[in-house]
Amino acid sequence: MGNMLISTIIAALAVTSYASPTAHHSLGGRLQSRSISSGCSTTGTASCTNTSVISDLCCFEAPGGLLVLTQFWDTNPSTGPSDSWTIHGLWPDHCDGTFDSSCDPSRDYPSISNLLTSQGASDTLSFMQTYWVDINGNDETFWEHEWNTHGTCMSTLEPSCLPTGSPTGAEAVAFFQTVVRLFQSYNIYGGLSAAGITPSATATHSLSTLQSALKSAFGVTPAFYCSSGSLNQIYVYFHLQGSVIDGAFDPIVVHLMSGWLFQNPTGTLPASSQIKALTSSGLVGGLLTLGTWSTQTLATMSLSGTTSSFTMTSSKGPCAVSSGALNCASGNTGTTFSAVSSGGNLLLASGGSTSWSSDGIPSGTTVFTVYTGSSHAQTYSLVIS
Ligand SMILES: *[C@@H]1O[C@H](CO)[C@@H](O)[C@H](O)[C@H]1NC(C)=O
Repeated sequence: MGNMLISTIIAALAVTSYASPTAHHSLGGRLQSRSISSGCSTTGTASCTNTSVISDLCCFEAPGGLLVLTQFWDTNPSTGPSDSWTIHGLWPDHCDGTFDSSCDPSRDYPSISNLLTSQGASDTLSFMQTYWVDINGNDETFWEHEWNTHGTCMSTLEPSCLPTGSPTGAEAVAFFQTVVRLFQSYNIYGGLSAAGITPSATATHSLSTLQSALKSAFGVTPAFYCSSGSLNQIYVYFHLQGSVIDGAFDPIVVHLMSGWLFQNPTGTLPASSQIKALTSSGLVGGLLTLGTWSTQTLATMSLSGTTSSFTMTSSKGPCAVSSGALNCASGNTGTTFSAVSSGGNLLLASGGSTSWSSDGIPSGTTVFTVYTGSSHAQTYSLVIS
């Protein structure tokens, strides 16, 4: 791509609406090759939206059901065509944004190029040689990294899910075919240029302008990442109906905060929630059952009431603020809390204030008392996720 930058002013990395895709921009010729078929329905429950355990993980992607198509705009050095973004990969995030990686080294295939060629997917390979290129020219290593690190974690690409008689590595071939197909449907360059936004070393664009350009193109707003003040990566998130091989990728909107994401916050109070602590350097643990702050396994709090007034109860009992400190215990008569929407998230408030503080930041097994207000050394907010 050209040696140009898209500069952006990022107001807040949070977006708030959900819609179905309305328009796609095609890129290059459509690829026809597809070596295998999963036999899975593409109209069943989408990944990450199930309400009970689904046992057939060949047709339901789990635990990595939040699929992320990532694309680069690289400038230094610039790679790929000047009128296209570059494919980074397709990653199977867990529904809460955490992820697994490098799940099956026995399937780290020695040459992706040979695999694609030998299984009739040379058209996919030649597309990748143009649009999925490494910043230092090591394309084969880049493709192997993407497959080994992310592809091997996809449940619907387990070899046992493939049709009988499939050649070794057929699931990796399907992975690359799917990524290319998705990339062709989510053409960032096309979406931005349709709204008059083209690369420039000097122009600045507000986040909302960029969001509405891609919402018009794709029906949903992806997530934008900047580097040194310039836009350089875009992530499009999906839930999947069926298999990565040939399923329906439904684009969704996620909410990002300090590298973590919260999905579809409705602004209404959930019946139960973990309460996570957001410090100036990101999310660090959250509340334990006693109402203390730690990075150990977080409590699931029951929340009862409305955002303007609710009670919060852990397995230890109702949570209360007494002498300025939070605690949850069976003897408590519950304090009422409220929840305040901020940046696409819901923050826990006591007496109308969303500030909380402690004497330090927990790590390992350390636990700190949680105080209302900001009078202790470390201040943070508490996010109802
Ligand atoms: C959804 O299905 C996955 C895979 O079976 C399971 O691990 C998860 O617990 C299910 N989610 C719910 C809410 O039951």
